[in-house]
Amino acid sequence: MSTRKPLIAGNWKLNKSVPEAMELAGSLKQDLADCDRVDLLVCPPYVALHPVAELLRGTAIALGGQDLFWEDFGAFTGAISGPMLKAAGCSHVIVGHSERREIFGDSDEVVNRKLKAALAAGLTPILCVGETLEKREQKVTKEFLRKQLGADIKGLERELISRILVAYEPIWAIGTGMTATPRQAGETQRFIRDLFREHYDGGIAENLRILYGGSVKPDNARTLISEEDVDGFLIGGASLQADSFVRIARSSSL
Ligand code: 13P
Repeated sequence: MSTRKPLIAGNWKLNKSVPEAMELAGSLKQDLADCDRVDLLVCPPYVALHPVAELLRGTAIALGGQDLFWEDFGAFTGAISGPMLKAAGCSHVIVGHSERREIFGDSDEVVNRKLKAALAAGLTPILCVGETLEKREQKVTKEFLRKQLGADIKGLERELISRILVAYEPIWAIGTGMTATPRQAGETQRFIRDLFREHYDGGIAENLRILYGGSVKPDNARTLISEEDVDGFLIGGASLQADSFVRIARSSSL
């Protein structure tokens, strides 16, 4: 546990219709009204963003998009831009989630453009990085992360980089129930912080919030958040029920 305030974020992925999203957001609003020792964020599907923003207005629960396109407007069927997310009430946006990379083909170059677009729109990007099981087993996690992160943040000035968050999401831990051990998460996140120290400086590295994502549940949140370099969570499955998200938020309020 560090002096950085934890951020507990829910990535709802392709789940929750508008009425379902309103119901979940309504429960969180009620159940987390007194939860001020952690920052809170939910990332519903695009169509639910605006109504959820209205519902959460005036609360401490922030809103984020799950992705964005790098152009602001134009003939890009199906795409959503940073300024649109901002106007819908978002303060954050997830960039480079492994599902975007693996299923939708987002390369590091695409992630880099999206990161820049998010920053230009005044959003706080949550840059997701993480290795496959194959890379972990080959013991090349660090080399992989060095290359992935380096390509993703290429050309980003110090002043811009101070506005991003990182989520370490080992692909083998996402939706599998195979959570990284606190030691694995802690060590890898310390390495990620050191990469920022190399690329920028100690001030940037120390202030950077690095979230962990991958099968975070109410019963493992506490030990994970106790790691010095784990500054919060990006939660998939367990963010879809108010009860489990609330329990994770509470056990992260050390
Ligand atoms: P799970 O919590 O379902 O493993 O998903 C993690 C994730 O991908 C969050 O972005």
